[in-house]
Amino acid sequence: MPRTCLSIILAAGEGTRMKSGKAKVLHEVAGLSMVGHVARTAMEAGSTRTALVVGREAPAVEAAVRKIADDVSVHLQSERLGTGHAVLAAKDAIAEGFEDIVVLFGDTPLVRKETLTRARAVLLSGAEICVVGFRAADPTGYGRLLERDGELFAIREEKEASDAEKHIDFCNGGVMAIRGENALAMLEAIGNANAKGEYYLTDLVEIARREGRSVRAIEADADEVLGVNTRVELAAVETIWQDRRRHQAMLSGVTLQAPETIFFAHDTDIAPDVTIEPNVVFGPGVSIGSGAVIHAFCHIEGAVIGEGATVGPFARLRPGTELAEDVKVGNFCETKNAVLRRGAKLNHLSYIGDASIGENTNVGAGTITCNYDGALKHRTEIGANAFIGSNTALVAPITVGAGAYIGSGSVLTEDVPADALAIARGRQVVKEGRGREIAERNRAAKAAKAAKASGDH
Ligand code: UD1
Ligand code: CA
Repeated sequence: MPRTCLSIILAAGEGTRMKSGKAKVLHEVAGLSMVGHVARTAMEAGSTRTALVVGREAPAVEAAVRKIADDVSVHLQSERLGTGHAVLAAKDAIAEGFEDIVVLFGDTPLVRKETLTRARAVLLSGAEICVVGFRAADPTGYGRLLERDGELFAIREEKEASDAEKHIDFCNGGVMAIRGENALAMLEAIGNANAKGEYYLTDLVEIARREGRSVRAIEADADEVLGVNTRVELAAVETIWQDRRRHQAMLSGVTLQAPETIFFAHDTDIAPDVTIEPNVVFGPGVSIGSGAVIHAFCHIEGAVIGEGATVGPFARLRPGTELAEDVKVGNFCETKNAVLRRGAKLNHLSYIGDASIGENTNVGAGTITCNYDGALKHRTEIGANAFIGSNTALVAPITVGAGAYIGSGSVLTEDVPADALAIARGRQVVKEGRGREIAERNRAAKAAKAAKASGDH
C-alpha cells in the first residue's frame, strides 16, 4: 500500500515585485502556472491530497491548482506571521491524518519529483523530518543547515546566525517532508521568540530533536529551489525548465537539431524518432507520433500530429488540429479545428479552419476555407481522394464529395457531389493582337511624357 501523503503549498506571498495584477504563483512557466507545476510534481511524487495556503481569497489560484489536483482544499492565512504559521493555516487538512506531509513553496516550480520521493524515502527509513538542502553560491538570506554525524540538529535563519554559521553554504531550500503522526503537535510548539518575531517552520528541526527524533537533510540542485520574485527570475526559471525538457526529449529519442531554439509547453508529448528542426514553439496540448518531422519555424498548439506526418517549414497549427498518419502540411499553412485524414496534403499557403479533409485528398496552393461569415463559423467537409485546385475559396458551410475535382481559382458556394468536376470562376477571354496594341500605346504615352519634361527645362 502506498503511504498517504498531504502536500501543503504555501502561496500567501504578495508578489508585489512582479508588478502584476495577478497573483505571483499564477505566472506561467511553459504555459502552466508556477503553483500548477508544484502541485503536479507533488502528485507525481505520490501526494494524495493538496492543501493550498493563500493570503487572501484567491479563486483563480484555487482554480489553477484544481486543474491539476482535484483533491485540494484552500486555507486562508490572513496575517503573514511566518512559514510555521502558514503551515498551521492548513491545520484541518493535517488533522485528517496522513502518513507523510510535504511542505512546498508555490513560487518554486522547479523542484523535481525525484527529490520529493527521496525526501519521503528518508521518512520511511525512520527520520521524523527530512529537509531538502542545496549548496548556495551566496548563502546570504537562507536558513543554514547545521549538521553533525549525518543528522540535522538545527536550521539557523540568517538573522540569528553566528558569524561562523554564516560561512556554512549548505542551505534550506524550503521543501520539508514531515511524518504526519506527530506533525500537528510539533507545529503547535513553534514559537515566535526570534529576531523577526515570526513563526519559523524551520524551528521544527530543533523541536523534533529535543524529543529525541531523527532529522536528516538531503541535497538537491540549487536550480530546483530557485524561487521567483521578479519577472527576471521567472525568465531564468523558464530557461532552466526548457533546458531540462530538451535534454529529456533528446534522451527519449527525439532529434532536436538546435535544441536551444525549441520551446516546449509543460505537456508536449513527443514519441521517439520525431525530428524537430530549429525554431519551433509549442503551445499547450500537442502530441506528436513517431517518425513525424517538424520543419523549421513552426508554431504548434492544441494539435495531434500523427505518425510520419510532416509539418512546415513556417506552418501554424492551432487548437483542434488533427493530422492523421502521413499527412503533409507545408509552408505558410494555417489550420484550426481541422481534421486531415491519412495521406492528405496541404502543401502551400492555405488556411483550413472548421474542416475535415479526406484520405489522400490534395489541397492546392492558396486554398482557403471561408469559415466565418462575420457572425458564425461554418464547416467545410471534403471527402477522400479529391483534388482541390490552387487558389480555391470554399465558402462554408459546404461539402465536397469524394473523388471530386475542383478547377483552380474557384469560389465554391454550393456543394459538389462525389466524382464531379466543379469550376466556379469567370471564363477566359482572348482578343488576338490586342496585347501588342496596348503595349504600343503605353510606349507612345511614355515617350510623349519624356519629351514634355525635357521641353520644360
Ligand atoms: C525561508 C526559510 C529559509 C529558507 C528559504 C528558502 C523559514 C523561516 N525560512 O526563508 O530557511 O532558506 O525560505 O527560500 O521558513 N509564506 C507564507 N506565509 C508567511 C510567510 C511565508 O505563505 O507568513 C510563504 C511565502 O509566500 C513563500 C515561502 O513561504 O512562498 C517562503 O517565505 P519567505 O518569506 O520567502 O521565507 P524566507 O525568509 O526566504
Ligand atoms: Ca524567500
